[in-house]
Amino acid sequence: MSQNPKRYTITAALPYTNGPVHIGHLAGVYIPADIYARFQRMQGRDVAFVCGSDEHGVPITLKAKKEGITPQQVVDKYHAIIKKSFEDFGITFDNYSRTSAKIHHDTASDFFKKLHADGKFIEEVTEQLYDVEANQFLADRFVVGTCPKCGNEESYGDQCENCGTSHNATDLINPKSAISGAVPSLKETKHWFLPLDQYEPWLKEWIVDGHKKDWKTNVYGQCKSWIDDGLRPRAVTRDLDWGIPVPVEGAEGKVLYVWFDAPIGYISATKEWAAREGKDWEPYWKDSESKLLHFIGKDNIVFHCIIFPSMLKAEGSYILPNNVPANEFLNLEGSKISTSKNWAVWLHEYLEEFPNQQDVLRYTLTANAPETKDNDFTWSDFQARNNNELVAVFGNFINRVVVLTHKYYGGEVPEASEYLEIDQTILKELKTYPAVIESSIERYRFREAQMELMNVARLGNKYLADEEPWKTIKTDEARTKTVMYVALQIATALAVLSEPFLPFTSEKLKKMLNLSSSDATKEYDIENTWKDVETKANLIPSGHTIGKGELLFSKIEDEQIHAQLDKLEASKKRNDSMNSVQDITPQKDTIQFDDFTKLDLRVGTIIEAEKMAKTKKLLVLKVDTGIDIRTIVSGIAESFTPEEIIGKKVTVLVNLAPRALRGVDSEGMILMTEDTSGKLVFVNPDTDGVSNGGGIN
Ligand code: MF3
Ligand code: ZN
Repeated sequence: MSQNPKRYTITAALPYTNGPVHIGHLAGVYIPADIYARFQRMQGRDVAFVCGSDEHGVPITLKAKKEGITPQQVVDKYHAIIKKSFEDFGITFDNYSRTSAKIHHDTASDFFKKLHADGKFIEEVTEQLYDVEANQFLADRFVVGTCPKCGNEESYGDQCENCGTSHNATDLINPKSAISGAVPSLKETKHWFLPLDQYEPWLKEWIVDGHKKDWKTNVYGQCKSWIDDGLRPRAVTRDLDWGIPVPVEGAEGKVLYVWFDAPIGYISATKEWAAREGKDWEPYWKDSESKLLHFIGKDNIVFHCIIFPSMLKAEGSYILPNNVPANEFLNLEGSKISTSKNWAVWLHEYLEEFPNQQDVLRYTLTANAPETKDNDFTWSDFQARNNNELVAVFGNFINRVVVLTHKYYGGEVPEASEYLEIDQTILKELKTYPAVIESSIERYRFREAQMELMNVARLGNKYLADEEPWKTIKTDEARTKTVMYVALQIATALAVLSEPFLPFTSEKLKKMLNLSSSDATKEYDIENTWKDVETKANLIPSGHTIGKGELLFSKIEDEQIHAQLDKLEASKKRNDSMNSVQDITPQKDTIQFDDFTKLDLRVGTIIEAEKMAKTKKLLVLKVDTGIDIRTIVSGIAESFTPEEIIGKKVTVLVNLAPRALRGVDSEGMILMTEDTSGKLVFVNPDTDGVSNGGGIN
């Protein structure tokens, strides 16, 4: 590829639409991708930056089951929330699509059909894991077991989240159904396999030999290890009912594997965008002078470096990714971010508590980005980065420049007279930054790039502190003008160079300096490109009037941080007292209404209670059922003392056939349930006023 590609096709992992997005997503994938895309657009390059919702797959089905709604309702809900979060944080996708869109179903189906017609699949009947109780095949996240590679006991059927390995569900040691907890049996079923083994020599040449130098070591290392271990055919179809139907004959009731359809979503999203813009999508995916980049988190490496490229290769007309700059994971206050445990900072919630402070989060997440290893987000670091860097360095510099320009010159950029050596050195140094930052961005080192941006602000701050215009104004007007002129050049450079990282701040700053702004109603038009910062003598000319000042950043107080920590603490407490979702007993088989009406449930009152001798668990109760007073033996002695339950209103199943327990006839049953921590509680009428004997229906 030539030095500058003709166009950029930039993809960001399609988020699963089973929950909102949190800071881990932003830090790992969407901010770096956005910095990169914004930067390339600023260079005038042709960019297609695409993403969308990943709406198929087992996680969505599981979420729907849990919430008692349909998968479509789940994805509609979260698609809207996720899309809005990205917009709110200034992620500049050219298109944010979704995999339930028709264009995607068509694109993915056609892709499958082409590979099928070209004989690229192996069609085979094999034994797959099956849950007899739930009456369904167990693929992907429907099954949990021990990872054959690293020993993680909670690996999913298709991938281990601990070591990243992608495997077949039948490879799991001690598999268990995530639906019923049952040990799966095996059942024959037909599937279509992509013979990855056949692509091994080619993958070796392309990645192991070809990308050792330019891919990140974490990405290269993972790929090499899988290729060295040997690749095996992977099924690209599933026996599930949520997904894209397999578009060939004899595949009724089967859908495409979510990891087959989702990456094709990048192509569909590009098509949808091109159609809207009146462009041709094909060069973005088929012209060898296009640079294709996948921004992802580390758990997606195998799919973007091995499986999707093999699919593209099999299809034959597509280009391959030039790079896959995957990040590691971001932890939160020392623990793994978890959606199910609500251990996360959700983007929509952040904005409620820190309105209009998107850039503070963008800044902190980039400064701490997990580029080479897992990293930790802490609220105290967030506060420190804001107060000590954004406020004290960037904000302070801009504030001094703007305030002094208004105070001394009524807002007009003064004329520089004679440059001293320090001025020349500063201006020369300023001109080195665009290339320095560019070089970091081009190597996907966004933390380094942002640090260099802050060095521009540091340069300005130091210059003002050394030259002290607030002192020279009393003794040397000409000198003060020169210093203020130079400082205004630095401020203008900051407005330009900060755009990829701190887009909201950049926009505000441009307004403050009366530079060009995306607001078309404004008349000023001092347009500075990235390159101009390097070459132009006057970024902001003498005689130009700047706008009025406003604060770019404000101090974050301890109380705000404490409130966030308290919120997390509350999540932790809830989790400690709650069992995870998997421990909720699955629903039993359906019964008919007639079955239900056989139960005679009445309101009763416990009027006597005593422990049954020589037992740990049993209490002998006398219960007033409204019909009679009867004896019921109940296994609740470990949870309740007799004293605390006397007088309690309860629900009694009165027509249960009597049975003898330790020699005492028990004539009915008290309804109990367990809370999520396993503690027994009574199912009782919600008012004490109901009289005994009332029927329940
Ligand atoms: N939904 C996946 C995840 O959140 C990512 C899909 S990326 C794509 O891990 F390539 F498949 F689109
Ligand atoms: Zn593993």
